[in-house]
Amino acid sequence: MPCPALPDGFDFTDPDLLHHRVPLPEFAELRRAEPVCWVPQPAGLAGFDDAGYWAVTRHADVKHVSTHPELFSSYLNTAIIRFNEHIRRDAIDAQRLILLNMDPPEHTRVRQIVQRGFTPRAIRALEGRLRARAHAIVEHARARTGPFDFVTQVACELPLQAIAELIGVPQEDRDKIFDWSNKMIAYDDPEYAITEEVGAESATEIIAYAMNMAADRKQCPAHDIVTQLVAAEDEGNLGSDEFGFFVLMLAVAGNETTRNAITHGMHAFLTHPDQWELYKRERPATAAEEIVRWATPVAAFQRTATQDTELGGKRIRKGDRVGLFYASANHDPEVFDDPDSFDVTRDPNPHLGFGGGGPHFCLGKSLAVLEIDLIFNAIADAMPGLKLAGDPRRLRSAWINGVKELPVSTG
Ligand code: HEM
Repeated sequence: MPCPALPDGFDFTDPDLLHHRVPLPEFAELRRAEPVCWVPQPAGLAGFDDAGYWAVTRHADVKHVSTHPELFSSYLNTAIIRFNEHIRRDAIDAQRLILLNMDPPEHTRVRQIVQRGFTPRAIRALEGRLRARAHAIVEHARARTGPFDFVTQVACELPLQAIAELIGVPQEDRDKIFDWSNKMIAYDDPEYAITEEVGAESATEIIAYAMNMAADRKQCPAHDIVTQLVAAEDEGNLGSDEFGFFVLMLAVAGNETTRNAITHGMHAFLTHPDQWELYKRERPATAAEEIVRWATPVAAFQRTATQDTELGGKRIRKGDRVGLFYASANHDPEVFDDPDSFDVTRDPNPHLGFGGGGPHFCLGKSLAVLEIDLIFNAIADAMPGLKLAGDPRRLRSAWINGVKELPVSTG
């Protein structure tokens, strides 16, 4: 039952597709003609009956799936990737220990604990330090003469510092945490000389580091977030291993996503000079949300049907994989006026860039919005004349809409 609205062999999870472009024309065609559509894939992982997935492209359907975890489980891996012989069963099993891949009631328990670290008060407490960091990052880049890479010089640093501040990684350990985080997320791109083994080793290092932090705080409680998560006596707490996997999740979920939002945002501003002028003049508080809608750094996630059900008039069978294409939902004309225009004053903006509103809705949304606001305010103050100095080089990935390099210059 291949989808008649797509060319033969077309697969949204082909990493070479996002490497070159976001498939917006194909999404538009599916939303119109076949909003829930079966996409066959070439190779199936042993144990899966069907190599393929349902592509869900309309805003309303993506929200429906996201808000019904009893019908659509996160247990069987949420990253929508090509299942083939390279994906090992044990790798998928290990991912079950990550919040993103848990179902209720386990998800509810862990989420209630880790939420303590993301209260408005906790995020506000970081604002002053992150503002100073944002200014320092931009000042450092401004001092450069000639073209430079916006990703490594500007977009990378603040998301890493924000996570380190949040969990209180001491200054002297930050370089190694940053190095592990970067190695972990770069291995899916063959242009980087980082292998899957190095990625896995780095993940192990991060988990071990965080477990040590947790063990330390259990022995010697301090006034910090780690203590709140692992040593609270009243409402339950995280075990050291759970804390290890939580920090691993932050290093993945909070790092590359925000980096790509900042990079795409800069590219969007520089290719829409009217919006950049407006932003510099008025600093609209709505800009960060529009950047996330426009960029949709997480292009898609997936769920697995827990029982036979129906979606968009299609019969979904128990065990079928269902792809939530946020990148499509965020351009749905049923919800957004003029969805393909970049408008930093867009309001309301009910985009699904942080998820479809269910129990897994992005835990770090307020932090991400704060980081995006802080960095663009700093750039508008110190580098208002920034220019593009070349084309962006995109990440090769099945589900992250990423930019690896963006040449810019201040002159
Ligand atoms: C979950 C996007 C920044 C931590 C998610 C989800 C998306 C997302 C799409 C899944 C939602 C779902 O399945 O319904 C983004 C984007 C970001 C960003 C686009 C930046 C622009 C951050 C930051 C952090 C973070 C800064 C933390 C430091 C998490 C966590 C989850 C999550 C822990 C899992 C929540 C759960 O399973 O309960 N994010 N995120 N994210 N995000 Fe973010």
